[in-house]
Amino acid sequence: MMVFPLIFFFLICLSPSTAIDNLSPGQTLLDNGQTIVSASQTFELGFFSLWNSENRYVGIWFKNVPQQTPVWVANKNSPLGDSSGVLVITSSGKILIANNATNTIIWSSNSSYSAATSNPVLQLLDNGNLVVKTNVLGDYYLWQSFDHPCDTLIPGMNLGWNLRNNQEWYLTSWKTLQDPSSGDYTYRVDPRGLLQLVLRQGAQVQYRSGPWDGVRFGGGPKFSKNAVYDPIFVFDSNNVFYSFVNNDNSIISRFVVNQSGALNHLTWNERRNEWIVIITLRTDMCDRYALCGPYGFCNADRLLVCQCPDGFTPRLPEDWARLDWSGGCVRKTPLNCSVAAGFRRFPRLKLPDTAYFLVNRTEMNLVECREACLRNCSCVAYARTEVSGCVAWLGDLLDVRDYSEGGQDLYVRMAASDLGKTFSNLLEIISRLICSSTGMLDQAWKVWNGGKPLELVDAVMESPVPTSEVLRCIQTGLLCVQQRPEDRPTMSSVLLMLDSENPMLPQPKQPGFYTERFLLHADSSSTGKKPFSSSNDVTVTMLQGR
Ligand SMILES: *[C@@H]1O[C@H](CO)[C@@H](O)[C@H](O)[C@H]1NC(C)=O
Ligand SMILES: *[C@@H]1O[C@H](CO)[C@@H](O)[C@H](O)[C@H]1NC(C)=O
Ligand SMILES: *[C@@H]1O[C@H](CO)[C@@H](O)[C@H](O)[C@H]1NC(C)=O
Ligand SMILES: *[C@@H]1O[C@H](CO)[C@@H](O)[C@H](O)[C@H]1NC(C)=O
Ligand SMILES: *[C@@H]1O[C@H](CO)[C@@H](O)[C@H](O)[C@H]1NC(C)=O
Ligand SMILES: *[C@@H]1O[C@H](CO)[C@@H](O)[C@H](O)[C@H]1NC(C)=O
Repeated sequence: MMVFPLIFFFLICLSPSTAIDNLSPGQTLLDNGQTIVSASQTFELGFFSLWNSENRYVGIWFKNVPQQTPVWVANKNSPLGDSSGVLVITSSGKILIANNATNTIIWSSNSSYSAATSNPVLQLLDNGNLVVKTNVLGDYYLWQSFDHPCDTLIPGMNLGWNLRNNQEWYLTSWKTLQDPSSGDYTYRVDPRGLLQLVLRQGAQVQYRSGPWDGVRFGGGPKFSKNAVYDPIFVFDSNNVFYSFVNNDNSIISRFVVNQSGALNHLTWNERRNEWIVIITLRTDMCDRYALCGPYGFCNADRLLVCQCPDGFTPRLPEDWARLDWSGGCVRKTPLNCSVAAGFRRFPRLKLPDTAYFLVNRTEMNLVECREACLRNCSCVAYARTEVSGCVAWLGDLLDVRDYSEGGQDLYVRMAASDLGKTFSNLLEIISRLICSSTGMLDQAWKVWNGGKPLELVDAVMESPVPTSEVLRCIQTGLLCVQQRPEDRPTMSSVLLMLDSENPMLPQPKQPGFYTERFLLHADSSSTGKKPFSSSNDVTVTMLQGR
């Protein structure tokens, strides 16, 4: 019965005694197999080499992953040629890696705060963060490795900006599998306009995630929920950053920008003893930045992935026909600020990139956002987004994708003549029909109640029209002329009703200006309110709502 406590005692004394999670001034970490291990044995720090290379680096890797996988490398741009390296922390809190043979410092953490520093300690935390703390600063760190990401993001690390001191956290690919020095690719949060992540090769944009919509990036299906991790996007006055959390503590996962610019989220599979790629961004043609040129829409489900949206036509038709889409599309009718314009709604998009955004994060509804765009001649499109608020695009629209599901709505400015019949004309015709003639109103109300509202339109439209839009217009029109002004929709909701694809419209009640003949037997419990009698009243009501 005494055996268990005894064995337990020995285990405590023997095995963890070799593993410490911190280093104080005066102590050294040598390149002789010594390591620092975080308190619950999740991460380990020490000297290491990469496959087929003599170079020695100080780095941090997962303690429980047999296949050594560095998530952070200190001296990635200045390796040691042999095992004469030594890691120390100075009494002022600076981390140094020195070559003890030549007595040269090859890397330092630049974290010296002499005035505030007392008893600095270097500690490897359980989330893999290497920190310099002092007993006077509590949980505030003089320095932390999470502020200096390499090619890997793990839970607790951020990708983005500290807006208070303009410090950026971003990923940089390794040069090669054997060389962790800075490679060609960076993956960074773009804080202008839309909140999105951008992969660059040198200065050239190669891919962008598309905007964060509150749940995921870009709205594409590949960003849908998964069982391994949850993405996080924080945007407030202090920070804008992307991060993620594993769904449970047993999961080991990491996000990496690899040497060839691939963006992979991997998870460690203990049973198979290997890293499994669970999500790869940049997989289809439409992930190639601006493949379809300005105003071109890309859809990976189509055989010919690039298409010009309604109202646009290829800028270089011959190139376009030869599948060189880089010239993009141009409007059939150029915009002219002194001529009437409207907007066409394009649903289910990965919202475009552009050279210049205008963002107003204050509470603005769709109508105010539309008006803000109309006020500026350079505004070519707008969207009302959950996260960024009202966003206006000033400049060519680039890198648009259209999805068969998901995505966001974009309203693109078009010359009124290009908006065609489909929409504004139809609204005008129908509202004029309903609002300007008593006889027509009679009939509109009658056929609506009789369940055959399309009869109303058949008489006046020579070409086929989309049924649902017609019905919506008639219903909206009837809502606008309801007897009780308080029942009538506001102008902004009218616009929303007309813009939305499947709006939930209330059933219209009896119209206000209505022939007495009908009124008598339709509403016997009349309030005695005089119905409107002039068609002008109704037109005004229609335009201004209530
Ligand atoms: C560094 O080198 C000197 C002399 O070569 C030696 O005395 C000292 O012990 C070494 N220090 C460490 C930490 O290896
Ligand atoms: C520390 O600062 C020096 C001089 O400003 C700079 O050359 C060096 O790259 C910095 N080291 C790190 C790790 O930032
Ligand atoms: C980068 O990741 C991609 C996709 O997983 C893979 O095909 C490629 O081989 C990787 N490149 C390197 C250099 O590891
Ligand atoms: C824009 O329209 C106005 C009014 O119709 C016209 O006078 C002007 O020439 C047009 N501008 C361009 C650039 O087409
Ligand atoms: C943002 O929108 C609000 C409400 O419409 C307006 O008062 C404010 O001036 C706008 N701000 C900018 C910078 O346009
Ligand atoms: C449009 O807005 C931008 C950004 O505020 C401004 O620089 C530009 O002058 C505006 N253009 C017009 C025609 O109002």
